[in-house]
Amino acid sequence: MANVQKLELTWIGKDERPRLEPRILLEDPEKSYHAKKRISDKDIFDNRLIYGDNLLALKALEQEFSGKVKCIYIDPPFNTGEMFDHYDDGVEHSLWLTDMRDRLEILKRLLSAEGSIFIHIDDNELGYLIAVADEVFLRRNRIAVITFKQSSVSGPKAINPGLVSTASYILYYARDRSVWKPNRVYQATERDDRYNRYISNPDVPCESWKLMPLREAFSNHCGVPAKELKKHFGEGLEEAITEFVLIDPRRVVRTARVAPVDVNPDAREALERSRVMAGRVFRSQRESRDDYYFLNGEQLVFYSAKTKQLDGEWITALPASTIWDDLLSNNLHAEGGVTFPNGKKPEALIARILNLSTNPGDLVLDSFAGSGSTGAVAHKMGRRWVMVELRDHCNTLIVPRLRSVIDASDTSGITKAVNWKGGGGFRYYRLAPSLLELDRFGNHIISSRYNAEMLAEAMCKLMGFRYEPGEVYWQQGRSTENDFLYTTTQTLSRQQIEALSEEVGPKRTLLICCSAFRAKATDFSNLTLRKIPMAVLSRCEWGKDDYSLNVASLPEAPEHEEDQFPDTVLADRPPTNPAEARKRRVTAKTDAVPGLFDTVASEGKEKE
Ligand SMILES: C[S@@+](CC[C@H](N)C(=O)[O-])C[C@H]1O[C@@H](n2cnc3c(N)ncnc32)[C@H](O)[C@@H]1O
Repeated sequence: MANVQKLELTWIGKDERPRLEPRILLEDPEKSYHAKKRISDKDIFDNRLIYGDNLLALKALEQEFSGKVKCIYIDPPFNTGEMFDHYDDGVEHSLWLTDMRDRLEILKRLLSAEGSIFIHIDDNELGYLIAVADEVFLRRNRIAVITFKQSSVSGPKAINPGLVSTASYILYYARDRSVWKPNRVYQATERDDRYNRYISNPDVPCESWKLMPLREAFSNHCGVPAKELKKHFGEGLEEAITEFVLIDPRRVVRTARVAPVDVNPDAREALERSRVMAGRVFRSQRESRDDYYFLNGEQLVFYSAKTKQLDGEWITALPASTIWDDLLSNNLHAEGGVTFPNGKKPEALIARILNLSTNPGDLVLDSFAGSGSTGAVAHKMGRRWVMVELRDHCNTLIVPRLRSVIDASDTSGITKAVNWKGGGGFRYYRLAPSLLELDRFGNHIISSRYNAEMLAEAMCKLMGFRYEPGEVYWQQGRSTENDFLYTTTQTLSRQQIEALSEEVGPKRTLLICCSAFRAKATDFSNLTLRKIPMAVLSRCEWGKDDYSLNVASLPEAPEHEEDQFPDTVLADRPPTNPAEARKRRVTAKTDAVPGLFDTVASEGKEKE
């Protein structure tokens, strides 16, 4: 069918897409942190906190984490329009939508087949974001739009004209609905006061059970005469009765109508007998389900069917709905021991999302980390996590918050509910600077801030190889069992290339990226020769560090550029193992060193 028009949202700049450079990540060991000792064999140490723009960070994670993330929760800036004088002309909406779409596309690639994503938003962009997210994740994978009650009708907003806004929304998508397997989660609800009778002697056979009014049983339990309960407990009476009910909810019952045709023949007989012999309980056994009980021609139902143990406590609970109005925390500002006004989300909210969509050990990602709530909750729940945050509160809020989780000094949020005892750790990373920079003639050259290890790792990423430096110096990266990548800053002579070809042998292949080579590239069947930076020049956009959402939360310039990316030192010898490689990549050196390929771009004398 030609010219089929699809239903879609359009906006200014929708067709523009950034050509992102897949950066490497540099660990800052000073900021990485782990517990002093192992608490259990389930401790997780390799969590990641990344300081920088999330679009570049997500691109950096793509190679290693594509298809591996079980749950993504993001809580981006809501684009409320508070920053602009001309908000309604649509430009800001367009910028925001493009920025979100670009991020959602990479996030989708990171999700595992059974994974799911939760996107927090308010009503400013809700409608538009649904349209864009439907395009990225497909409408059939939209599971729900959850309404989250995030505030009450109080404070200054309560005097605004019209309706008081107390909700925000969470868009919930599966990566692929056909293989998506959510866990069942429950939500606290009010006690159902139709359950108003109490079995006083539950240990005898059911035919001899005696039922009494619930209030009378409660009055006996607390030793307060029924007539004085109201006076004694005042406002707290219902709550006290609920607590009593939850001590043993199998003793609290009500009767409910049941049609004889809806039960099996044995149950039907028991039902009929209960009608004839009023006042006596009859039971009908079932194989793999709860037995039926009947009284006075109706079914006897137990309050225990309405209860669940949630966060260590028995509560009245129902399967979670799409309205989450039970998660507001009175203590939100204090959770995690960090202050993050107007952005921090309750740990209980993140816990519900993780309970719904993950199991212990699964990987969770939040690329708008804010005060680090997602990482804190994931850590306490035994999930692995990756977080990205652009602004300095990555250092001032997230690092201390996660340290106190690891040290078990954070007793707030879900700590008690999940019985968190501390342990584990995380690694702190920054994005490496762009691999290429311009020299004074406007030619692209390898950045002077790259050392040999960083260059080798960056080339692996650009060429689609895994960076796995080993004992053999030319095996820095591999794409398959027998296909390797070697990057060197040297100009390789014919003899050097011949020697390499011989060492690689007939069963393996090697891609060599070097500044220049003096041989015909096609002379060696097991080698591919490429010059850098020419080999990568057209692959992406170089030197662009800021893809942050244009409409909010722009980063503050660091006081000293250099502080962000410490100068690194060239080392001719490749590292012999990944640990050494990591250590050498993060080693700062104060002496300025010339760029690895300062002269390469203007070269070109070598024969190819
Ligand atoms: C609403 S807050 C998230 C709050 C978080 N859910 C919590 O509970 O603390 C949004 C965060 O996204 C961050 N952010 C905005 N643009 C970003 C970008 N391009 N890369 C990384 N983080 C970004 C902001 O700095 C802010 O901390």
